Amino acid sequence: MDTCKNKQAPPLREMNIVIVGHVDHGKSTVIGRLLADTNSLPEGKLEAVRELCRRTSKPFEYAFLLDALKDERSQGITIDTARSFFKSEKRKYIIIDAPGHIEFLKNMITGASRADAALLVIDAKEGIQENSRRHGYMLSMLGIKQVAVLVNKLDLINEVKRQAVFEKIVKEYGAFLEQVGLVPTCYIPISATQGINIAKNTNILPWYKGPGVLEALDAFEEVLPPTDLSFRMWVQDVYKFTAQNDDRRIIAGTVSCGCLKVGDELIFLPSGKKTRVKSIEAFNEPTQTFACAGKATGFCMTEQIYVKRGELISIVGDDSPLIGNRFKASVFWLGKEKLSKDKAYKLKIGSAQVGCVLEKVDGVLNASTLEGIEQDFVDRHEVASCVFRLDRSVAFDLAGKFQDSVRFVIVDGYEISGGGIITQTVDDDLGKNLVRRGIKWVKSSISAQAREDFYKQKAKLIVLTGSSATDKKTIARSLEERLLKAGKIAYYLGISNLLYGVDADIKSDDSINTPEERQEHIRRLGEVANIMLDAGNILIVTASELDSNELDTLRQIVSNENVLCAWVGSQAAHLRDFDLCLEGGTEKIVEELFLTV
Ligand code: GTP
Ligand code: MG
Repeated sequence: MDTCKNKQAPPLREMNIVIVGHVDHGKSTVIGRLLADTNSLPEGKLEAVRELCRRTSKPFEYAFLLDALKDERSQGITIDTARSFFKSEKRKYIIIDAPGHIEFLKNMITGASRADAALLVIDAKEGIQENSRRHGYMLSMLGIKQVAVLVNKLDLINEVKRQAVFEKIVKEYGAFLEQVGLVPTCYIPISATQGINIAKNTNILPWYKGPGVLEALDAFEEVLPPTDLSFRMWVQDVYKFTAQNDDRRIIAGTVSCGCLKVGDELIFLPSGKKTRVKSIEAFNEPTQTFACAGKATGFCMTEQIYVKRGELISIVGDDSPLIGNRFKASVFWLGKEKLSKDKAYKLKIGSAQVGCVLEKVDGVLNASTLEGIEQDFVDRHEVASCVFRLDRSVAFDLAGKFQDSVRFVIVDGYEISGGGIITQTVDDDLGKNLVRRGIKWVKSSISAQAREDFYKQKAKLIVLTGSSATDKKTIARSLEERLLKAGKIAYYLGISNLLYGVDADIKSDDSINTPEERQEHIRRLGEVANIMLDAGNILIVTASELDSNELDTLRQIVSNENVLCAWVGSQAAHLRDFDLCLEGGTEKIVEELFLTV
């Protein structure tokens, strides 16, 4: 009896492979061959391309197959030049041909297509070139541990010398990789054009007993998303329910590692805000009670807190990510212009994006020769150990176990110009205080909801700012009165009430504040507001000319998400940072504000 009849074969798994190597060493040809030899091409494609070459008197190239497939649909996915699909009996493969360093780095770091393993192609005739070494270095830096080195174009080498040429490359390249801490899985002598040792060991090179390229790929182990690590997820987006009186939000992102369950207590960093998972929302799927590494998911919270894209979520009590605005990193620089101290850059880590400057260069290496260089900038194709200072704190982890919270790219103007991994922390600041505050906060036994029900109002912070010429105080006072008349518990806190009290130690009469002093005033204002809101009040504050960083600081410090920042007066250039722009007479403005409460 055939008991297997009704059994469905398990679905083939997918593996991402990146192919790298020096220019013209045969990457595209290897891919074309793999597609052809695994019968992954659409029926008649190979012949059609050969025929086209014949007609146009061009020599046939396997690489042309990739161009010919560009707009074709196969397996329901549009093929582009950078990704090709093929399968063995064991599994499906996506092979990523990164045409240049930048694309490679971008793919690897931004997570668009993370590779489980790599093929590194070296032309036997030309031998090891700069990019053979640079790419080897990058694979090691990015933590790709499974690498097959393909020594290609052996057909161009005299038969009697092939083995010696192959072994010389194995020895030399092996010595280089050892220096960067990478041990390749295997070295395979191949000829991509002749199909030697591609789909299987063809025994054309009798002295080589190892696997062909496809066999080596099948021998790679699947790199499963790490569910056994502590939970990490970047906030990708926050969706609001829009139905009336529904202020719930869904926090959406992809679980980087670990698992998330309903009921878990979460901490968002760098804000340090905490909440619990109320429900895990799934789209077109039955509701889940957990979500593990690799899963794109969304969840609702038991307490609605203000968080934004760019925060890193972990579970309270697990090993926590670090936060700070300075760190040491190993960087790979690819920009046309050098990485220098006198320029501002953007740094992207996870979903966070922040301005940064290069603060210190600890050591520079040429990525191809691994020679040390004495200089305080980083030139194209160099790798360096550097300290970066960011405009504000972000959450991150140190190189080792984690990936998405360790790797970053640096954008110069609009171009990704380098990338790196964080190796050490350097500093302490606001973010750390907030986390500490979150942990040490003594919670009342009255919940925020109970307080809201009792006072019949939601606590709220209304920040009125604008040019110093506008009369924000009159508006604030009128609003306070208007709210009290309507039975609300509201309080207007003038900035001077703080400056000469809570801030007395940093406020000297008539002196102009330094940026650090101003930052500290804002921090203290935020802390006072946080307490007043925790007590259930509607708090109105006025301050002149707040900028987006200062607003951001306030929003970070105030745990309650109910913060309204309004600009009083004609449109500010940076108006997009505000919730409202208030123009017109006091009465009109007060009414408008009143309606938001
Ligand atoms: P870039 O994408 O430009 O970096 O090049 P590539 O690494 O993709 O190389 P490609 O596959 O385009 O091959 C470059 C040239 O080498 C082409 O003319 C190929 O025909 C030739 N080539 C590739 N593999 C072999 C081989 O095994 N033997 C011989 N003789 N030529 C090969
Ligand atoms: Mg190519």
